[in-house]
Amino acid sequence: MKIIGTGSAIPSKVVTNDMLSEFLDTSDEWIVPRTGIKSRHVISSEELEDLGIEACRKALDMSGLGPQDIDYFICSNVVNEYATPGLSCVIGAGLGLQCPCIDINCACPGFIYAMDIAEAQYRAGRVKNVLIVCCEEPTRMCDWTDRSTSVLFGDGAGAAVLTAGDNIKGISLHCEPAPDKIWQKRLMQPTPYITKEEHETPLQMKGREVFKFAVNASTRDVEALLKSVGMSKEDVSFYMVHQANARIIDAIKQYLEEPDGKFPSNIADHGNSSSASCPILLDECNRKGLFKKGDILVFSAFGAGLLSGAAIVEW
Ligand code: COA
Repeated sequence: MKIIGTGSAIPSKVVTNDMLSEFLDTSDEWIVPRTGIKSRHVISSEELEDLGIEACRKALDMSGLGPQDIDYFICSNVVNEYATPGLSCVIGAGLGLQCPCIDINCACPGFIYAMDIAEAQYRAGRVKNVLIVCCEEPTRMCDWTDRSTSVLFGDGAGAAVLTAGDNIKGISLHCEPAPDKIWQKRLMQPTPYITKEEHETPLQMKGREVFKFAVNASTRDVEALLKSVGMSKEDVSFYMVHQANARIIDAIKQYLEEPDGKFPSNIADHGNSSSASCPILLDECNRKGLFKKGDILVFSAFGAGLLSGAAIVEW
């Protein structure tokens, strides 16, 4: 397939580090050197699905396709208010889609997992045009009295339209099952028969372990995928790395021995927006005119699961 349209939508509320230090024992001086985050967009009055619809409309406008042209719609999301129907159906209704709508919960690498599904459907001859949206509100998962998690995240949606083409040069997906490294539990409805004890738990993360996993997984995925398609680092124009933490991105950069200029970043203004991070970055770079035809973009993302993935896309 190839990407022919991108779009994004972010909440209007901007929360700076100084605003967080009004109610948390934290500071800009602690957050910036450890994460690179200066501010983040946080959902206040918006509905998540409206951000998803806006991102999709922008991507469709750029692609020149309409909702009636889309054969398959994939929504990547970790948490939203609807247990059912899937967020893809809610957003699909807003867009007027008439195609299959599926949700995936693959955490931060969701965009890469969605591209893999799209490419597989295309190669099977089942679809021509696929719309992907990654729509996330991780700020609603955190305990906002916990300074170790709540400072890291931001909300938003990023979308892409894919159509027939030969521009996805390779995708690799990995899992190192470890559900105790990043997790959150919600309470379900009680029944007269439940006898086990159940608790609601806000987002928990073993920060240092996740940091190491992220750097190892990303460098391994990128090097192995480039090798498997017969490419080298010299062929890469840009690394589109999940915007979790500037220090993670710096460590990947150092390990790969690649220059700053190949790593576009928006973490300073967005924080970690989970799977929305890669397509929001893609859309911002695309609309700034950063990419030229033939550029090689290498996506790499990692997160809860622990899942990781990489993709090589020719622009
Ligand atoms: N402000 C001030 N102090 C903070 C703080 C904050 N926001 N968050 C944690 N601290 C404190 C801790 O309480 C601890 O204090 P103590 O030594 O008195 O106990 C101290 O800072 C060190 O905590 P620690 O968790 O060891 O810090 P760290 O250097 O590992 O940095 C992260 C924490 C979260 C920034 C870092 O582990 C990280 O970036 N991990 C990856 C997280 C990530 O990106 N996850 C998503 C991947 S998809």
